[in-house]
Amino acid sequence: MNIILLGPPGAGKGTQASRLEAERGMIQLSTGDMLRAAVKAGTPVGLKAKAVMEAGELVSDAIVSALIGERLDQADTAGGAIFDGYPRTEAQAEALDLLLDERGRKLDAVIELAVDEDALVDRITGRFTCAACGAGYHDRYKQPAAAGVCDVCGSTEFKRRPDDNAETVRTRMAEYRAKTAPILPVYDARGIVHRVDGMADMDAVARDIAAILDSLAG
Ligand code: AP5
Ligand code: MG
Repeated sequence: MNIILLGPPGAGKGTQASRLEAERGMIQLSTGDMLRAAVKAGTPVGLKAKAVMEAGELVSDAIVSALIGERLDQADTAGGAIFDGYPRTEAQAEALDLLLDERGRKLDAVIELAVDEDALVDRITGRFTCAACGAGYHDRYKQPAAAGVCDVCGSTEFKRRPDDNAETVRTRMAEYRAKTAPILPVYDARGIVHRVDGMADMDAVARDIAAILDSLAG
């Protein structure tokens, strides 16, 4: 099954995509994670993306669609993928249709995480991840069971994203409203959009998504 998790910054796309990976063996394709890896590795893509990401603006459509295309050529995605943070513009949505079509695949569902924007700054500025394994946490909503120790791998090193500050979050939200939200009606017209309440707690959101996937599979 190929699904898109769509929602503004901090909506819970990454949180839910990693749960779907862990619980259902699905494959998460996060363009944000791919770009951060490229920045860290200092690749040509990373060099182009770094300042754009730190400003909270969107990296070019050509770059992100190329990253997705390369990833879809790897065998583990043949059974389906969760698109997290892609597509984000109408051009990317068109590119995704083409990339899937070329590989004889199709998009099964778009799951919209509906959230109240006022809560997002709080979610994003409280976010941190394990520096070793990438497990996600939050200062208030999801602390490690033992303070300062990652639940998953036991590491004691954590990090925060350079774009997770209140000012950049406002730009990221404005980008979402202007460029990403307009792709929803396109998918709505195809009848593949499912809306979940992203303001509910993480387990409730996960249950709602699981129910949608089960109904599509069954
Ligand atoms: P990206 O990495 O995709 O960031 P984003 O869209 O801004 O989304 P986030 O990762 O901030 O939020 P999320 O929805 O994953 O939330 P999370 O689950 O972590 O992109 C970063 C940048 O890369 C972009 O600004 C752009 O420059 C570039 N980029 C990436 N893709 C691109 C593309 N396709 N085109 C162009 N440019 C691109 O949750 C947030 C926090 O809240 C966590 O701490 C979590 O623990 C907590 N939380 C989650 N769910 C809940 C809940 N239900 N209740 C309480 N807390 C919760
Ligand atoms: Mg994310």
